Amino acid sequence: MDTESALRSGLTSTPKYIPVWYRYDKAGSIFNDRCLSDNTYYYFYSSEMYILTSNIKEILPNVSEVPHLVDMGSGNSEKTRGFIDSLLVNHDTVTYIPVDISKDFLADTSYQLSEIYGNKLLIKSIPGDYDVGIERLRDVTGLKIITWLGGGFQNQKYQDQIRRLQMLSEVMTDRCRLIVSLDITQEKEQVENAYLDPTGISADLYLNAITRLNREYGCDIKADSLRLGAEFTKSSVPEETSYVKLFGTSQHDQQHSIPGLGININLAKDERLYFHEGKGVSCKYTIDQIRTLASRAGIYLANYWTDNNKHVAVCYFSKGKI
Ligand SMILES: C[S@@+](CC[C@H](N)C(=O)[O-])C[C@H]1O[C@@H](n2cnc3c(N)ncnc32)[C@H](O)[C@@H]1O
Repeated sequence: MDTESALRSGLTSTPKYIPVWYRYDKAGSIFNDRCLSDNTYYYFYSSEMYILTSNIKEILPNVSEVPHLVDMGSGNSEKTRGFIDSLLVNHDTVTYIPVDISKDFLADTSYQLSEIYGNKLLIKSIPGDYDVGIERLRDVTGLKIITWLGGGFQNQKYQDQIRRLQMLSEVMTDRCRLIVSLDITQEKEQVENAYLDPTGISADLYLNAITRLNREYGCDIKADSLRLGAEFTKSSVPEETSYVKLFGTSQHDQQHSIPGLGININLAKDERLYFHEGKGVSCKYTIDQIRTLASRAGIYLANYWTDNNKHVAVCYFSKGKI
């Protein structure tokens, strides 16, 4: 579905929503970086960094063949740099394939990486949606290390998580590694504070979806007419995950014409406009739920590494049983 159709569909459905990926233009990517560096409630970043730096040799063991390093939702590529550096210890060059919907930010990051690594790093960026990136991987032969870091994976609808894992398994061989960071935190208050921090840093990221909609499609929805909320919903069955609902509650009745999309919308007082599709976003998993997810996609959870606080699991999925 193209951007306009996805927005039209979200803003005219019940309840109304704006897809998660729409917040990630260049400004959104910069806000996302600020959430990582400045939001001290966002436990995911520090836990994931700790796990990756402490276990990189196990997560990415030596391989004789030069692999392609694929980075799904690459963002600022900060964490993947640990993988690049590690591969360059044993190989003269690395081919790096970052996939990201935030095209300008991807171009900037790729340029910065080429300045740092020079001709040791062959960068083949794929600007676009995850599906576009995975399709392009069909043409990439040889060993692939595929990373999906920083919580991007868990921001998808559960059905999309299964579907994209299945698609990835089709482009993997038994020797390929898929490394995905997943949030395993289960405490309501901790989760809600991380996603809507009392210091207000994460708010800019969600509201960027509104700013971008106003700018690109000619409407005038005031950010302060929406009161932001985050709600954690816990699941205890392996067939589902816990998740967070993120939304803005309309402070009064409002009508908006969105000429670029050819629609008018009403937001009633107390109506919620969600910043994601489906029941929730930012899924939280138990290890059983991760195993169930993998088996539904026809792949295996071969190993995982966690931090002492049990916030994050960096998971190694394989195509065949190890
Ligand atoms: C939570 S950030 C993670 C960034 C980075 N991997 C990290 O560890 O900090 C998610 C990234 O995925 C990208 N993204 C979100 N939805 C996407 C989609 N549907 N297709 C491709 N990229 C997407 C965003 O632009 C953003 O860079």
